[in-house]
Amino acid sequence: MKVRSLELVSFRNFKTLSLDLSPPLHVFSGLNAQGKSNLLEALTLLSGRKPFRAAKDEEMILFGENEGSVKAAVEHRGGESQIQIFLSKNARKKALLNGKTVSRANPLTGIMALVLFTPEDVLTPSGPSGARRALLDNFLCQVSADYREAWDRYQELLTQRQRLLGQIAGEGASADLLDPWDKLLAEAGSRVVLERAGAAPGIAERARRFYAGIAGEEEKAGGELVLKYERSWERSTERNVAGDGSREFFERRLRQERAEEIRRGRTLTGPHRDDFSFWLGEKPLKRFGSRGQHRSAILSVKLAEWEALRERWQEGPLLMLDDVFSELDERRRQALLGLLRSGGQVFLTTAEAGAIELPGTEKGSPAFWRLEEGRLERLTNRNARP
Ligand SMILES: Nc1ncnc2c1ncn2[C@@H]1O[C@H](COP(=O)(O)OP(=O)(O)O)[C@@H](O)[C@H]1O
Ligand SMILES: [Mg+2]
Repeated sequence: MKVRSLELVSFRNFKTLSLDLSPPLHVFSGLNAQGKSNLLEALTLLSGRKPFRAAKDEEMILFGENEGSVKAAVEHRGGESQIQIFLSKNARKKALLNGKTVSRANPLTGIMALVLFTPEDVLTPSGPSGARRALLDNFLCQVSADYREAWDRYQELLTQRQRLLGQIAGEGASADLLDPWDKLLAEAGSRVVLERAGAAPGIAERARRFYAGIAGEEEKAGGELVLKYERSWERSTERNVAGDGSREFFERRLRQERAEEIRRGRTLTGPHRDDFSFWLGEKPLKRFGSRGQHRSAILSVKLAEWEALRERWQEGPLLMLDDVFSELDERRRQALLGLLRSGGQVFLTTAEAGAIELPGTEKGSPAFWRLEEGRLERLTNRNARP
């Protein structure tokens, strides 16, 4: 997959921007707060996933404007596609694929698969479980339009059920009102759980292999990297139950938990509370790992995700490295650049382009860009200052 061109209008700190992105490797350099991450965010938006920083879509519109847009021409195995996203303060985000409106993100699946690696990712193994679930969800949403649909549906149903739990507890509405919702929630939720359970071992095995290759000898002494998908009902000690996550099983769980859920006003069981935990051998990385081990572990998962996406689509997904490359040692850099050699396009941001050693590929040499206050200049020489 390859983004050939990108056009931004009133997106973040870019008033207008039009770029030819044909080369396989792009390095965006610039001081802090010039728009390097904003540029990557625009690309993530086109992939149909949640933008990687904005909590609300309208945050991405240039301050003072009411509308903004991002447009790209993307080459992929299936041909070439135009994707366009419109952002508006007064309406929902709108996506166009080859000029036709798409109501949900599903049709975008597989056009622009991507893997993003940021400095904050080092917190994933130790932080809240949401970031670890997102590893699986981001992957699966880019692999299967069905998964994306089930996942979206599950989130919507969860919000609606939440409201209903509040009405039952607070306003004395009948608990029977939950019956139809539980059925729907179990239906969408079991699809999410079963697909996650199906994909997790493959990601875990690839990550184990990458970890063995990139971690230093001392780091490896802690044991092999193990990733475990843990369903919500397996995790909580007081209600530890075995169950595969079939629809019937899930519905029964909801039934059993109902009184407690009404009391606490929350859905306590289901894929929104699953985990994808990191271990070194028998020990939880969270509690015993060094910072270097955390970094190697998350990098291994990103590499695993990249490789699995490549296998799924038979072409390399985009790789975005936001401010992480210069912090990596040679072995880790080589592992990442190896992905470039296997045919994926790479976007890399850094404060100092001059410090980065990059290979050309047979498909072309890297493009260096300098970014200043939302204006971009292509450099002929990486150290040149415009
Ligand atoms: N909606 C917006 N409109 C205009 N500027 C914005 C908007 N959102 C963020 N910015 C600006 O973008 C800059 C940060 O850009 P960012 O891409 O994070 O920088 P970096 O180059 O450090 O990655 C800040 O100056 C911020 O004020
Ligand atoms: Mg940044």
